[in-house]
Amino acid sequence: VTGGIAIERNTPLAPRTTLRLGGAAEHFCAPEDEAGVGEALAWADAHALPVTVLGGGSNVVVSDAGLRGLVMGVNLRGTDWQEHGRVTRVTVSAGEPWDAFVAEAVARGLAGVECLAGIPGLVGAAPIQNVGAYGQEVAECVVEVRALDRTDGRVYSLATEACAFGYRDSAFKRDPARWVVLAVTFELRRDGAPKVAYDELARALEARGAAPTLAAVRETVLSLRRAKSMVIDPADENRHSAGSFFVNPMVTLSEAERVVEAAVRTGLVACTDDVPRWPAPDGRVKLAAGWLVERAGFAKGSRRGAVGVSSRHALALVHHGGGTSAALLALAREVRDRVRARFGVTLVPEPVFLGFGGDPLA
Ligand code: EPU
Repeated sequence: VTGGIAIERNTPLAPRTTLRLGGAAEHFCAPEDEAGVGEALAWADAHALPVTVLGGGSNVVVSDAGLRGLVMGVNLRGTDWQEHGRVTRVTVSAGEPWDAFVAEAVARGLAGVECLAGIPGLVGAAPIQNVGAYGQEVAECVVEVRALDRTDGRVYSLATEACAFGYRDSAFKRDPARWVVLAVTFELRRDGAPKVAYDELARALEARGAAPTLAAVRETVLSLRRAKSMVIDPADENRHSAGSFFVNPMVTLSEAERVVEAAVRTGLVACTDDVPRWPAPDGRVKLAAGWLVERAGFAKGSRRGAVGVSSRHALALVHHGGGTSAALLALAREVRDRVRARFGVTLVPEPVFLGFGGDPLA
């Protein structure tokens, strides 16, 4: 025990990740307030140990060797709702579960996060990789992130622009050793109008025949995610995953044409329209990584021993129990290499890799 925080030794991390893989943390603590976070960081500095922040563990791959130094769980709780005319500003502590926050916002008739229902993990992680799904991303409603800057030990309130959000990206993600996210402030609209900007969501809402209310959007998203094993369910054979294992590639127009040409030439599709792709904001083209994985020969449900491809979504790699991170990474490498050989596109992993020196897929 140091000050008010307890520091454990040799804490298994696999149970703290949704993949259920990886070794132990040399040291572990889970402070419940900002003072505790400061103490933990000071303790690590005093012992010259590296610090890794672990949230809900739903987007990480931990190495089999585990992590040296201090792993800090985030147990800061509390939510503060403030009405400001047509919007509600809500400040949520980093350790609050994301999905419960979405449910509460929708129940209060507040719009802005309804498409992000069913995403596992904690609120503090949401701005780090700019969590997004079904046509919405947190960057659209995050107005401030309260974060501790480890370079000077001070706490800052970063406005949206300072967060430098991109597709599954932010200033926090680009500099992971620097920032500890403490709380996130969202601005949610009181007009109750949901966002329906994803084809699959629009079609599913229509099929229900219900008015597109916030609650209907949330429930529809949950059912779409469930059908893809993207909601954590203890009864689901695909439950141990990190969600999408690769980001969707953003390629130039000519690269996209090459992919389409390769797909037609090898008889994967009958017509060029059958290759899923969407215009990206900067004139590039977004390809569907899940489609590339499947068409490179990894059928849903295919297995390599204790790991495999989800039986409901080719972009998720899953652990069936008794496996290792090394086996999962070997499969990821195989997927990346075969997609590259077939389509000339190099997939980039989406989860955060912890405890691997250098490029884990090298
Ligand atoms: N597809 C296949 N086979 C599959 C899965 C998908 O061919 O097994 C193709 C289909 O053409 C489909 C397209 O891929 O239309 C897109 O699939 P989907 O709508 O399921 O979305 P995604 O692009 O695979 C992204 C996010 C998900 C998010 C969904 C829904 C990334 C890396 N992933 O997946 O986020 O839930 O959109 O908005 O951007 C995550 O990041 O972990 C995550 C789950």
